[in-house]
Amino acid sequence: MSVTGVIPLRIEVFHASKYGNGANVAEEIKTELAAKGHQVSVHHMKEVKPKQLPQADLYIFGSPGRIGKPIGLARRFLKNVILPSGTKYAIFSTEAPAQPDKKTGKMPTPEEIAKWQRIKPIMDELLKGKGLVKVGDMTVHVVNLKGPLEENWQRTVEEFVAKID
Ligand SMILES: Cc1cc2nc3c(=O)[nH]c(=O)nc-3n(C[C@H](O)[C@H](O)[C@H](O)COP(=O)(O)O)c2cc1C
Repeated sequence: MSVTGVIPLRIEVFHASKYGNGANVAEEIKTELAAKGHQVSVHHMKEVKPKQLPQADLYIFGSPGRIGKPIGLARRFLKNVILPSGTKYAIFSTEAPAQPDKKTGKMPTPEEIAKWQRIKPIMDELLKGKGLVKVGDMTVHVVNLKGPLEENWQRTVEEFVAKID
């Protein structure tokens, strides 16, 4: 048992941050989970072989959005992940808010946004296809295309951590 009374878990976090926003989110996840007594490591996906992940109780995968999908590195990584069926996972994405159409100035409808924001659904498809079991997800928004993260983003991370802990 840890100081907070929880059974400490070994948690591995993998992200594919390009501009640093997702890397900050991953570090905040680590800080908050570590404060609850868990053992957490953070890795960039480019530094790890997806077929040889370290053993853990829970895996957290994060990706920035690219034209409605996870960034290419994250798609390839998740396609190649080898983990035993039944392994627990959670995901997070960093996403830019929907923009008005440049010509018409009109905001996209919720249906149009859903069609283009398939970042988390695609991550889930890849992982559930391997028999992994989802325990949580989160989206953290960036203010502009390359960041920074929205105000009070740590609050979003706090809520995510509270659900998966
Ligand atoms: C070429 C390009 C395409 C993008 N497409 C999307 C998108 O389809 N959906 C979205 O939410 N964000 C999109 N973004 C914004 C990214 O979500 C944002 O750059 C990212 O979350 C920042 O995270 P990072 O700092 O960890 O790389 C795009 C950004 C770029 C540069």
